[in-house]
Amino acid sequence: MTEPDQLIAAIDAAASLDALEAIRVAALGKAGSVTALMKTLGQMAPELRLTEGPRLNALRDAVSTAIAARKTALEAAALDARLASERLDMTLPVAATPTGSIHPISQVMDELAEIFADLGFAVATGPEIEDDWHNFTALNMDENHPARAMHDTFYFPDTPGSDKRMVLRTHTSPVQIRTMLTQKPPIRIIAPGRTYRSDSDATHTPMFHQVEGLVIDRGITMGHLKWTLETFVKAFFEVDEIELRLRPSYFPFTEPSAEVDVGCSWAGGTLSIGGSESWLEILGSGMVHPRVIEACGLDPEEYQGFAFGCGIDRLAMLKYGMTDLRAFFDGDARWLRHYGFRGIDVPTLSGGVGA
Ligand code: DAH
Repeated sequence: MTEPDQLIAAIDAAASLDALEAIRVAALGKAGSVTALMKTLGQMAPELRLTEGPRLNALRDAVSTAIAARKTALEAAALDARLASERLDMTLPVAATPTGSIHPISQVMDELAEIFADLGFAVATGPEIEDDWHNFTALNMDENHPARAMHDTFYFPDTPGSDKRMVLRTHTSPVQIRTMLTQKPPIRIIAPGRTYRSDSDATHTPMFHQVEGLVIDRGITMGHLKWTLETFVKAFFEVDEIELRLRPSYFPFTEPSAEVDVGCSWAGGTLSIGGSESWLEILGSGMVHPRVIEACGLDPEEYQGFAFGCGIDRLAMLKYGMTDLRAFFDGDARWLRHYGFRGIDVPTLSGGVGA
């Protein structure tokens, strides 16, 4: 083999990009062998240069082309190797792969959406930074209403040039207003989401979760409210026989208003839902106040409705047995491993919504 043939053979046999680069430097680099040959052209007699010039140029081109081709081949092989090593077998059982877990609050929100979807309710949302009008005024709590003081509201500083006072919403009830302003009856929605109050102890956190329910149509009565809540509580706690107790109460945005307790027992020291030995308060509810319906531009003579509001964190604690509300928000991986849900445990009514 001639020297150029040996060089090309070495290029073709280079086992790695590093080895190839070493060959390139040794041949085409500043002190490379081909570069040295090219330099001899300058001192050559013109007749010799006439034949040697094209020959050396051809050699240099052949070496460059061979290096480029080998480089492409080595890069393709490296990519193939990488793709093979990073391959995911999508047919592997899920349990064999490491997984995160669904937070109990997210799980319960999914369960609520599933239960209420079956009853014809859509999921509605609203902003967490809300204005005073949607959070209070339109819900029949004007500026001086004493109920405003009960909400321990987080207020934003005034915005220069705007008379809107912004708050972190203290409940999900403003979503009732937003829904009635943008949709025509019949309305059937639930609105799960974050809510905020300046309050913190073992049973209160500054951020917590509520779900709002709203039905607006013609001829809606407390009977519809009670049936809906019974159906919801049975499906949620997965108990066929439950007792609900509606206690007269007061909320500015409902008339009449009722707080709802579910019958339970503490036999053996553990909570079980059902019976009427003991009672647990689970939500507030009532018939939507005519003034609220009016504030949303609907005629209260024509349309009636019911609403309810319920703490999601508490629902989760009752169903899944957590004892300290604050743990929900600690982000402790051990707690999440214990109480979290697998991503594929999607709530379905047919399978029982709970995990
Ligand atoms: N918004 C109320 C609260 O946070 C809960 C509530 C009570 C909502 C009665 C309702 C309702 O829709 O009808 O305390």
